[in-house]
Amino acid sequence: MEFSIKQSSAEKLRSGCVVVGVFEGGKLSAAAQQLDKADSQQISKVVKNGDMTGKAASTLLLHKLTGIEAERVLLVGLGKASELNNKTSIDILRATFKALNDTPAKDAALYITDEGVGKDANWVIKQAVFIASEQAYRADGMKSKPSKAATLKNITFATTDKPAANLKTTLDQAAAIAHGMSFTKTLGNLPGNICTPTYLATQALALGKAHKSIKTTVLEEKGMQKLGMGSFLSVTRGSVEPAKLITLEYSGADKKQKPIVLVGKGVTFDSGGISLKPGAEMDEMKYDMCGAASVLGTMQAIAEMGLKLNVVGVIPTCENMPGGKATKPGDIVTSMSGQTIEILNTDAEGRLILCDALTYSAKFNPDTVIDIATLTGACVIALGHVASGMFSNEEKLAQELLAAGEQTHDRIWQMPLWDDYQPLLDSNFADMQNIGGRAGGTITAACFLARFTKEYRWAHLDIAGTAWKSGKDKGATGRPVPLLAQYLINRAK
Ligand code: BES
Ligand code: MN
Ligand code: ZN
Repeated sequence: MEFSIKQSSAEKLRSGCVVVGVFEGGKLSAAAQQLDKADSQQISKVVKNGDMTGKAASTLLLHKLTGIEAERVLLVGLGKASELNNKTSIDILRATFKALNDTPAKDAALYITDEGVGKDANWVIKQAVFIASEQAYRADGMKSKPSKAATLKNITFATTDKPAANLKTTLDQAAAIAHGMSFTKTLGNLPGNICTPTYLATQALALGKAHKSIKTTVLEEKGMQKLGMGSFLSVTRGSVEPAKLITLEYSGADKKQKPIVLVGKGVTFDSGGISLKPGAEMDEMKYDMCGAASVLGTMQAIAEMGLKLNVVGVIPTCENMPGGKATKPGDIVTSMSGQTIEILNTDAEGRLILCDALTYSAKFNPDTVIDIATLTGACVIALGHVASGMFSNEEKLAQELLAAGEQTHDRIWQMPLWDDYQPLLDSNFADMQNIGGRAGGTITAACFLARFTKEYRWAHLDIAGTAWKSGKDKGATGRPVPLLAQYLINRAK
């Protein structure tokens, strides 16, 4: 899909479909007024007749209006200007692209950044690109015949006035983020028998091949052993698939500039191990590598943008399976940090692979480390499928991430890392145990990671509720690529 910006009078724009807004009560947007003037008030008539009330997210398609260059006109209801919020903006955009995708138009011109759709043109354009790309995405990589591709290929964001100078930059960044999300979704949706740790390593190496700015290296189990990653290796023991520790180094700035490190949980299938999960919906545990996939998607996006920043992606990836050699409840392992861990539940494996990856990350002398993980079912209970959980050992970083979440509508909610929770991880036999009980399960998981991140500024994102959708619309969401990419864009300024 191609996106562009163009200033033009609405009636003169040649396009498969021109999209203009109508407010509730019948007031026409500036672009709709231009069309109305050119087509001898046909739009006014349609509104007067009650075919388009302007109710938010309602749509009406009109064909071949005289005096208008575009083949079709799509009227989109904007609701009451006073009631506009981010949720209605997104509802309007979703309905717009749904209506466009129901037409045979190959290209469309949308007057949606001028007025009415959102409070800020930059915000609207990002959401429009994300939604258009989302609706064009097909999870057909494993089907014998590809699904019918979207006909809509070219989208022009049209403006009646001169567009703001920064709009083009925003558009290019949004397109790169959308490409990154699509990559993340594709990886997430692949089944566990295809998307193995080896497969993720191959994808990471391919990313390094495709972009001169990315250097990928893959550490095998032998190398991990040498580094003393007893915690990470304890998780992969039951699996026949070899574990990998993938590193992607993106160099966009001076070598001396400290990098931001993104660490993504890459459990390509989480059966729970000996603490086996119940059968219902266990297939969804193929999504337990979505943290890793979001790191790959974000690295791709920033490489495409050519962001002036140094970023390192670190991906510990393995399977969590039962087996004769698998780690057992009660086993005690030594992490790379030297701290010992009593594994009381082999299903709390994410923190076990992350803690060694976090210790490893210190070698990059990081400015900031952010880990991304489908870490706890408790996070889904706490925040549902709307916000990702966020923890940080530095308030400024927390605020920067919260802001990036708002800018991209890829929202997060901060949770406490207070020491009051730490005693829940005390073990009788080791330095700590890997679970803290049912209460505050998302928090104790984060507190566990905090014991390995004392040397640097750090944030943890629990994306268990936001990385994929269940049920009829089952599929990866591509989150939190927008959040991460926007945070990095802001840091590059
Ligand atoms: N990958 C799961 C977390 C998860 C579960 C994400 C369901 C999304 C939906 C993680 O490895 C896990 O199994 N966590 C356990 C921890 C518990 C044993 C302390 C959980 O949440 O049940
Ligand atoms: Mn688990
Ligand atoms: Zn898991």
